[in-house]
Amino acid sequence: RRIAVLASGRGSNLAALLAAFPAGDPRAEIALVISNREDALALDRAREAGLEAVYIPWPRGGRAAFEAAARELLEARGIDLLLLAGFMRLLSGEFVAPWRGRILNIHPSLLPLYPGLEAQRQALEAGATQTGCTVHFVDAGLDSGDPVLRKTVPILQGDTPEAVAARLLPAEHEAYPQAVRMVLAGLAFPVPTEEEGQAEFG
Ligand code: GRF
Repeated sequence: RRIAVLASGRGSNLAALLAAFPAGDPRAEIALVISNREDALALDRAREAGLEAVYIPWPRGGRAAFEAAARELLEARGIDLLLLAGFMRLLSGEFVAPWRGRILNIHPSLLPLYPGLEAQRQALEAGATQTGCTVHFVDAGLDSGDPVLRKTVPILQGDTPEAVAARLLPAEHEAYPQAVRMVLAGLAFPVPTEEEGQAEFG
């Protein structure tokens, strides 16, 4: 199966995914990386790995243009599974709907706790003694789709958001490929809507 990754930044999760699903692997391969930032390290990593890496601008108010270009490219490349990895924009319900069950994100908290920005800081400020990461299906909300997999890490006395983020990152790098394997194997799927439930079982 062919996988595309959407990333806005550093791309350490992309690197973990690339190690697990290298280009050319007929079972599951990362075939395309898209970024809304021209200077994203993720694009450099993808190019170094010999992958197609495409910058699609997301100007202020330009979501529709980004989504139209991305949709076209994903179709042209025959992408089956779409992974958000540090993608810092919210996709529309219209864009996401056809990908239902085939689009994932990773978030640095134990969702539904602490969605949105600065999740590690939110956990610290709430006085949490542990946090973690969640791989979840993407819907039109902010970090709100059905979860696939979580991993926890402790929060220690004197931790800063940066320290928590650093402790969490290796857990993210394990969790994301594991969750992708579960989805590819059909072992994880979004909770069926009433309509879907009737179609499958009714
Ligand atoms: C990760 O913490 C991820 O959970 C969050 O953004 C960060 C991306 O890091 N969504 P990287 O770009 O994968 O290194």
